[in-house]
Amino acid sequence: MSIISNNLQQAVALLQANELVAIPTETVYGLAGNAFSDVAINKIFAMKNRPHFNPLIVHIHSVQELSKIVKSVPNKAQLLADAFWPGPLTLVLPKKDTISSLVTAGKDTVAVRIPNHPVALALLKMLPFPLAAPSANPFGSISPTTAGHVERYFKDKLQMVLQGGDCMNGIESTIIGFTDGEPVLYRHGSISLEDIQAVVGNVIVQTKENHAPQAPGMLDRHYAPNTKTVLTDKIENYLNPSSDLKIGIITFSKTNKPNHVAYLEVLSPKGDLKEATANLYSALHRLDSLGLDLIIAERFPNYGLGKSINDRLERATKSK
Ligand code: TXA
Ligand code: MG
Repeated sequence: MSIISNNLQQAVALLQANELVAIPTETVYGLAGNAFSDVAINKIFAMKNRPHFNPLIVHIHSVQELSKIVKSVPNKAQLLADAFWPGPLTLVLPKKDTISSLVTAGKDTVAVRIPNHPVALALLKMLPFPLAAPSANPFGSISPTTAGHVERYFKDKLQMVLQGGDCMNGIESTIIGFTDGEPVLYRHGSISLEDIQAVVGNVIVQTKENHAPQAPGMLDRHYAPNTKTVLTDKIENYLNPSSDLKIGIITFSKTNKPNHVAYLEVLSPKGDLKEATANLYSALHRLDSLGLDLIIAERFPNYGLGKSINDRLERATKSK
């Protein structure tokens, strides 16, 4: 029997019993548990096979809830919250003791966001606690953007996936932390860096080179298909007409399929980066299920959401 369901009451009952429920958000599906319960938090890490040094995002339904979990909000964090919540923006802020160090991997900050999805918001409003929820995939694999993706990953290990349709944005939230009140980008995501800068001005972009991995979304290999995958500026470089490899390719907008390519995924025939972002993970899931020898992805233009797509493709294609 399918674990996918619309039953909000059942989701509430499971979560109150410290069980896990996969929930839809506008970015990707999350594997949710009571953020105030170490029992539930431990189950999240165990089910995902996630290392304990990788902290979780806490989801709330309104800004009023923020004061229950964070000590203070820098001015620029407030500006970003006003501009983007509910929405795909995660803010990393000084935590209160209500949030256990299991959630934050021992850090004194907690990552928090208000998701912009009617089912997630309805569920959060019915609960007396916030939900800790990482993406609902085994550690390192492609994030799920449909209830079916989650079901395929966890099968009957998980009791329930709350149905919320296809995730509209299709890529994780943008994560912003603060150093002396100034914004630092920890993870590219669903809101482009340019859109963040339009609200708060200069943003420091944290890279592996200038910092130890604060946001293990920055871990090298991540978001990865099982099939060998490469990222290139020129797909033709990888196509050898005399080879009999079964190949799938991902392009931004090019719709012509070279002869010896078995499958083509065009993320946005009209060349729209938002549409391409929404389609990225479902295309990777499809290609990964076809038994291909190789997936070749074409590098995206490096601005706006193209940067977030390139970031994910780079991590998906890092060798093991
Ligand atoms: O869109 C999203 O953000 C989705 C949905 C479900 O909300 N969630 C998600 O969670 O992508 P996850 O666990 O896959 O990624 C959370 C990221 C990790 O890279 C983690 O390191 C970072 O958030 N993070 C969490 N707490 C942090 C903290 N205190 N400081 C720095 N980074 C933190
Ligand atoms: Mg994740």
